[in-house]
Amino acid sequence: MSVVVLISGRGSNMEALLRAKIPVAAVISNVAGAGGLAIASRHGIPTLVVKHGDFATREAFEDALVHEIDRFAPSLVAHAGFMRITTARYVDHYAGRAMNIHPSLLPSFTGLHTHERALAAGVKVHGCTVHFVTAELDAGPIFLQAAVPVLAHDTVDALAARVLRQEHVVYPRAVRWFLDGKLSIQNGRVHVKGNDAQLAYSDTP
Ligand code: GRF
Repeated sequence: MSVVVLISGRGSNMEALLRAKIPVAAVISNVAGAGGLAIASRHGIPTLVVKHGDFATREAFEDALVHEIDRFAPSLVAHAGFMRITTARYVDHYAGRAMNIHPSLLPSFTGLHTHERALAAGVKVHGCTVHFVTAELDAGPIFLQAAVPVLAHDTVDALAARVLRQEHVVYPRAVRWFLDGKLSIQNGRVHVKGNDAQLAYSDTP
């Protein structure tokens, strides 16, 4: 049982997985110099870079990425701030064994700049979602969500930090449940053996 983590940046969710003692076989980034690579190395985890810019097409990039991932034969591929849209071929290859953390309560605010958009919309509750990766962006079956309040004078940074704290709680939890075989998908909905109530988590400031 092992996990390959894909990152593009600072890697705080990846670090949360390491701190939770998730068995991470390797960390792969599409960005050379991504901050998370140094963190992974400090934890003694093998790191690789597969730069998307080195390939003529998205497919060629993904072929190289899949080749590197599969060398580790992971049970799960965990996207953790991995800023590439994946093709249907990639999604099929990892069907049911690739997950992502997204900084909003899906299906609201798919895509980028979620915190700015949440503030602009005036929502009173925001949060994060762990979901399976599917062909449609940020739309796969939802594992686990954490909600946080949006406060009257929130800034984007304050709200992002509040959400990120919960990302670091729910992502390791979801990965652990996956590895422990506790999750199942029925009719596109995720269930956790024994206690579906565990799939919601709420923070109070
Ligand atoms: C997180 O907010 C994650 O939800 C989003 O990108 C950010 C990555 O942060 N997909 P980090 O690299 O894990 O610190």
